[in-house]
Amino acid sequence: MKILIATEKPFAPVAVEGIRKEVEAAGYQLALLEKYTEKQQLLAAVADADAVIIRSDKIDAEVFDAAPQLKIVVRAGAGYDNVDLDAATAHGVVVMNTPGQNANAVAELVFGLLVYAVRNFYNGKAGTELAGKHLGILAYGNVGRNVARIAKGFGMEVSAYDAFCPAEAIEADGVKAAKSQEELFDTADIVSLHIPATPETIRSINHDLFGRMKQGGILVNTARKEVIDEAGVIQLLGERTDLKFLTDIKPDADVDFQQFEGRYFSTPKKMGAQTAEANINAGIAAAKQIVGFFTEGCTRFQVNK
Ligand code: 3PG
Repeated sequence: MKILIATEKPFAPVAVEGIRKEVEAAGYQLALLEKYTEKQQLLAAVADADAVIIRSDKIDAEVFDAAPQLKIVVRAGAGYDNVDLDAATAHGVVVMNTPGQNANAVAELVFGLLVYAVRNFYNGKAGTELAGKHLGILAYGNVGRNVARIAKGFGMEVSAYDAFCPAEAIEADGVKAAKSQEELFDTADIVSLHIPATPETIRSINHDLFGRMKQGGILVNTARKEVIDEAGVIQLLGERTDLKFLTDIKPDADVDFQQFEGRYFSTPKKMGAQTAEANINAGIAAAKQIVGFFTEGCTRFQVNK
């Protein structure tokens, strides 16, 4: 049985070793394809794979066609918008994610970005503090909950809105439940995005919604870049020079972001889950889920039907 790790953005080596231990303890063989630059390399590597562990790697029908033995793909992480679920189902392949395993890493990055921005990107001028500011969390899943926990430690006032999470569950954590995402943008000093990329959310963070923020508002996106309506947000940043936009991964738009200097920051690669701990948690969870699937038929965390 061959288990392939196919990661264009590699796991920390310590995580690969952890995965290797799980895989080899079950009597399977581990293969590694890291930092690949051509899709052809992925197609060749999956040819004899029974299972694949991926990160944000794109898995489409062509990949399934090239993998006749493939039975399971585990996305070591939360978002699985990079996997063609219909194609997986059509090929009889189970797809899983590992929810929650990298949530703390993403949540910590939110505050790394925020402190950097409110201290004026460490340019020597007096900045502001997070204590006493109102943080609005859009979507109260694993990452949103961790963001709320850390925000309380900073002494922030915290609200959240989640279309699928009852207000009582949010309030039970000592977080104010907003009635709508509009209310969150109207009232918060800072809005942090934790929505998945779905047909409903793609490009939903647009000119009008971001434009509802009060003077000096900050939007921080550690979710998918696809949830941002880039044209609208770029237009707004031009119109409202008081707003800041921080994003974990550069938008696609081909504009000179230098024009927003002091109000804009992006990471060069998606960095939210890029910690040794998150790699270990998500990678080992993926390996265990594969072993559980082959040995006991366990399909917990399956995301395609
Ligand atoms: C996730 O969906 O879990 C995060 O965005 C992490 O993605 P990555 O594995 O590509 O860092």
